[in-house]
Amino acid sequence: MSRVLVTRRLPEGGLEPLAGHELVGPKADDAPYSPDELRAHAAEVDAIVSLLTDRIDAGVLAAGAGRLRVVGNVAVGYDNVDLAAAAAHGVVVCNTPGVLDETTADTAFLLMLGAARLASEAERDLRSGHWARWGINEYLGQDVHDAVLGVVGFGRIGRAVAERAEGFGMRVIHHTRRPTDVAGYVPDLDALLTHADFVTLHVPGGPETRHLIDARRLALMKPTAVLVNTARGTVVDEAALADALHEGRLFAAGIDVYEREPEIDPRLLAAPRAMLLPHIGSASRRTRTRMATLATSAVATVLAGGTPPNVV
Ligand code: GLV
Repeated sequence: MSRVLVTRRLPEGGLEPLAGHELVGPKADDAPYSPDELRAHAAEVDAIVSLLTDRIDAGVLAAGAGRLRVVGNVAVGYDNVDLAAAAAHGVVVCNTPGVLDETTADTAFLLMLGAARLASEAERDLRSGHWARWGINEYLGQDVHDAVLGVVGFGRIGRAVAERAEGFGMRVIHHTRRPTDVAGYVPDLDALLTHADFVTLHVPGGPETRHLIDARRLALMKPTAVLVNTARGTVVDEAALADALHEGRLFAAGIDVYEREPEIDPRLLAAPRAMLLPHIGSASRRTRTRMATLATSAVATVLAGGTPPNVV
């Protein structure tokens, strides 16, 4: 029997693969552990089941050195885990690929449609009693059909968005650093941004993609374009995005992820034509349960001496 720290409450059934192990946490009120608490617990467990709200940094991994064997991060992204430190201490890190692609692609589409058609503003007006009358010039958005969709990052989620886009009558182009053999590959990100009517981001977070979409690149986009981010908040310069929206240099944005979650740049909150969601990309009951089970199964496999397929 091993000791496993579970940092937050998981969906029902998510802990079943860890049956027989001693579980530590989560807190009664489901609050995240502080960095100090994470370090203290790391020293006394064999495994951590973490969420993207936990920073499993070099300090936590050093504290666990000698005993900690595996971190199962219940997310496909792992920019909250210091992989180099994990490798240095021989800690295996697992994530949850494959189970959330379709749900996250649905969210990207929700944001594309919602932002392009000004759904958030329209609903806000209706609810606050500001819908005075029907008007032929009211809430004029951009059409999704016939538009060019630029997919940035063409992994599983990017491809799932592209498939949906075909059904919506969009023309799809895509960019990744490594060329694909799929039609519509654009080697130059700037060229994609210049041509696309919609841009949807599906690259991983972390230092390499920080501010990939910065003020200069936002300026390349059409003033009628819509930017959608369901990847990581750090991929977009949030302040520059707020500027572009306030100044009408970008038509709209659909955003699910933020640079300093749960803080949001007040200028982005106040920006026009922005549909803002609280990081719910993978939030369907079925998908969140699958994610939890995938992460805890991987942890159980490592604790039993095996190697799960989802090691990063
Ligand atoms: C969610 O953001 C994830 O990485 O799974």
